[in-house]
Amino acid sequence: MALPTPSSRISLLRPTAVNTVLAEVREARAAGRDIASLLRGEPDLPTPEHIVAAAERALREGRTGYPDNQGEPALREAVAAKLARENHLHYSAGDEILITTGATLGIYAALAAALEPGDEVLLPEPIYDAYRSPIALAGGTARSIPAQRVNDRFVLDADAVRDACGPRSRVLLLNHPWNPTGTVFRRAELAALVAVAEQQNLLVLSDEIYEAIRYDDREFVSPAALSNAARARTIVINSFSKTYAMTGWRLGYCAGPALWMRAIFLVLQQASRGPATFVQDAGVAALNGSQECVEQMRCEYSRRRESVCTALAGLPYARVLPPEGGFFAMVDLRAAEEPSDRARRRLLWDHGVVVMHGAAYGAAGEGTLRISFAAGGRSLEQGLARLREGLCAKSE
Ligand SMILES: Cc1ncc(COP(=O)(O)O)c(C=O)c1O
Repeated sequence: MALPTPSSRISLLRPTAVNTVLAEVREARAAGRDIASLLRGEPDLPTPEHIVAAAERALREGRTGYPDNQGEPALREAVAAKLARENHLHYSAGDEILITTGATLGIYAALAAALEPGDEVLLPEPIYDAYRSPIALAGGTARSIPAQRVNDRFVLDADAVRDACGPRSRVLLLNHPWNPTGTVFRRAELAALVAVAEQQNLLVLSDEIYEAIRYDDREFVSPAALSNAARARTIVINSFSKTYAMTGWRLGYCAGPALWMRAIFLVLQQASRGPATFVQDAGVAALNGSQECVEQMRCEYSRRRESVCTALAGLPYARVLPPEGGFFAMVDLRAAEEPSDRARRRLLWDHGVVVMHGAAYGAAGEGTLRISFAAGGRSLEQGLARLREGLCAKSE
């Protein structure tokens, strides 16, 4: 007898690149290999104590009922205050901010609210692979815009964005600090991109999840902060995952004009009624408390970034590109003429270290590997030693 099968929509979805590679890592470990990981964007630092204490207190106080589905008012107020304090952005906590189950749900809900079937999302490339499936699920298609490499920096050329625009182009998705390239856009670069969005009437989706992790005093500018006109066509998406080492808490938010927040809220109500109430209380403590913990984590990532550059210096066929932000470094492998996926497998199976192949982030990522230094200590040290050995082995 025939059995029910998943819808054709499901065939458009792909597992995330990290999950695919993790399955291979499990296979290697099951085969007895010792694997050091430079794979995931998962901070190994603990969530700061005062945030954990706030969640504990909230649990003890019985804050376990359904949350306000838009987000607890105190957290929306705290997000509004943070956006004003750090980003010079002014949003009403009443109708311009929503709390989401991580940035992941914010991204999906914004895409679902924005896209008509067949609409295009302009996507810089290489980029976080997990944007493509929610675009497909929301009925859209991704149009890639290959980044250019200028002085070892990945840049998104505004003219290339303009040239890629067609009649169905609807959304420009930006992520900066940019995973995996490490680029932090300059104000002038963003202004040129937003000018194209204005000319082509695009909605700008700005994923700002790595905002707090920047090096060398690099400034972070949200595209929404460029002008009132830019704010009117931008949806800001952010989360607590990276800034406060809270990946498992599943807490994020989005901000934008009330019209868009109403639309996104309708989607959110079908998918989730919001993160747990006591988790939202912890979010209030994170945003309203001292930001010293964020600065300490940033300094720690900065030290790790230095270790990556030092450990991989002077290799004949591979060059590390120090990131301006985020906790990933790209290694330029083009001189080795080895496809990135093959290099990744060789490093995993022959040298006991797992990284991500650049091609996982789109064709424009070919010729690179992405190394995560979200985890430090012995695992970083061992991973870098094995990576160096593996990259040298290629050159023999
Ligand atoms: C660019 C980018 N956006 C969004 C996410 C997911 O964020 P969250 O944990 O808040 O769902 C990640 C996670 O790695 C990411 O790298």
